[in-house]
Amino acid sequence: MYTFEKMTPADIEEVIAIEQAIFSSPWTTGMVRAELFDNPFSFSFVIRYLGQMVGYLFFWEVAGEFHLMNLAVAPKYQRQGIGAEAMKWILGMAQKRGMHFILLEVRASNTAARSLYRKFNFYEVGVRKKYYDTPTEDAILYQYDLSPPLKTP
Ligand SMILES: CC(C)(COP(=O)(O)OP(=O)(O)OC[C@H]1O[C@@H](n2cnc3c(N)ncnc32)[C@H](O)[C@@H]1OP(=O)(O)O)[C@@H](O)C(=O)NCCC(=O)NCCS
Repeated sequence: MYTFEKMTPADIEEVIAIEQAIFSSPWTTGMVRAELFDNPFSFSFVIRYLGQMVGYLFFWEVAGEFHLMNLAVAPKYQRQGIGAEAMKWILGMAQKRGMHFILLEVRASNTAARSLYRKFNFYEVGVRKKYYDTPTEDAILYQYDLSPPLKTP
């Protein structure tokens, strides 16, 4: 029912409109273009429902780890299970690609996202003090373990 498709340059304008609607420090067109064109570790996907963009996500794959850089559901589609679908998709993708961990950081005040991550068994591994601007705020770091790394001496 929901599809996850690789983001293309044609999607950027709509992604930026959603960014501006939901974040106090939204990503810019330049930042999205950098993810699409300049970063070989970056993967960018849009989530569609009946052809309509309802959300998107960006993650980096680095040394056996996924870093979830951004996850967003457009305001009028929130609280309908799309964030949960996105988390299932990310976990499935991480497993398929043999990742050991998923890492992410989130604003301390973002109760919706933190609740979503906890629901999917991410656990807190740290705090980056005053990590975010406008407004200044701590970042909470979350981790999800897919498989324990080998404990070789
Ligand atoms: C966080 C976000 C992606 C959740 O997406 P969503 O489609 O609304 O989430 P779902 O409907 O799938 O809800 C799944 C779970 O998320 C949590 N959740 C979602 N919205 C919530 C809210 N407003 N308050 C509290 N918990 C919430 C709950 O745990 C919920 O499970 P439940 O329905 O059993 O209570 C969405 O709110 C969003 O895009 N927010 C703005 C962008 C953002 O903060 N992104 C994450 C940081 S990078």
